[in-house]
Amino acid sequence: MTSQASSTSTDEHPMMGPGRGRLEGKVAVITGANSGIGRAAARLFAREGAKIVCVDMADVVAPRIDALIRSEGGEAVFFQADVTSSESCQGMVALALERFGGLDILLNNAGKTARGRVDVLSEEDWKGLLDVNLTSVFLGSKAVLPHMMAQGKGSIINTASTYGILATNDNAAYCSSKAGVILLTRSMAIDYGPMGIRVNCVCPGVTATPLLLGNIARRGVPIEEIAKKNRCLQRAAMPEEIAYGMLFLASDEASFVTGHALALDGGQTIQA
Ligand SMILES: NC(=O)c1ccc[n+]([C@@H]2O[C@H](COP(=O)([O-])OP(=O)(O)OC[C@H]3O[C@@H](n4cnc5c(N)ncnc54)[C@H](O)[C@@H]3O)[C@@H](O)[C@H]2O)c1
Repeated sequence: MTSQASSTSTDEHPMMGPGRGRLEGKVAVITGANSGIGRAAARLFAREGAKIVCVDMADVVAPRIDALIRSEGGEAVFFQADVTSSESCQGMVALALERFGGLDILLNNAGKTARGRVDVLSEEDWKGLLDVNLTSVFLGSKAVLPHMMAQGKGSIINTASTYGILATNDNAAYCSSKAGVILLTRSMAIDYGPMGIRVNCVCPGVTATPLLLGNIARRGVPIEEIAKKNRCLQRAAMPEEIAYGMLFLASDEASFVTGHALALDGGQTIQA
């Protein structure tokens, strides 16, 4: 594993250079924006010129993402909300339109884990995980689509996972939720492509974020052991390495890309 994989900080990463205006003039709503992958994406999108509505149910990571973005000269507001609520999703869209006068990009990124086999998982855990990881994508998209349909353009990016492509043990609900995100992405790409709206998802591999590190700490597995299962690059990703894939899909550089599940996985999903 390289030294890149040992840090969880998304705030001092060398990849975070000055922006090149790839999202200039655009407005983005990003869920799960205060931590991990969403935090790196919010910061990167802002550096590339987008105005950001940072949505998160928690504001425990400091500095809060909107303050971090503003301290770097960007524009951002924080919207504390639970994305499993339809009202919250309507609220984040309304805030973008009211505060920034438009909405071009929705990054449905908030997610959580709940490990366990089917016989062990409670019905409550199953439903709770599907709500956060899959239903939130439905609700967020439902909230933003009327606006995107009216303007005849927009880019929706959903965070799936390599575990939406490959099954793994003790992970029934998570794998199911992320497989659902991939097929929801493709279904929406077909339905809304004719209206000028692109819908894509990313499938990150093991990424050094608070979610992953908390999960493996509970299981007592060193990150090196998990990273070595990836026989290609043999390390975990940093959140910024996922954020750059999201940036591509969000930007006009991906104007002919829709329905795509972009594996950002260091080669994990090419292995037999
Ligand atoms: N870290 C990995 O190895 C990895 C790999 C593949 C996919 N992912 C996916 O990437 C996404 C981001 O994960 P991360 O690793 O950055 O995790 P993280 O825990 O660091 O960040 C997730 C953020 O989402 C927020 N959140 C959770 N539930 C929410 C809700 N109901 N409403 C609003 N906000 C909520 C949390 O407060 C947190 O700030 C998730 O969808 C996750 O499944 C992560």
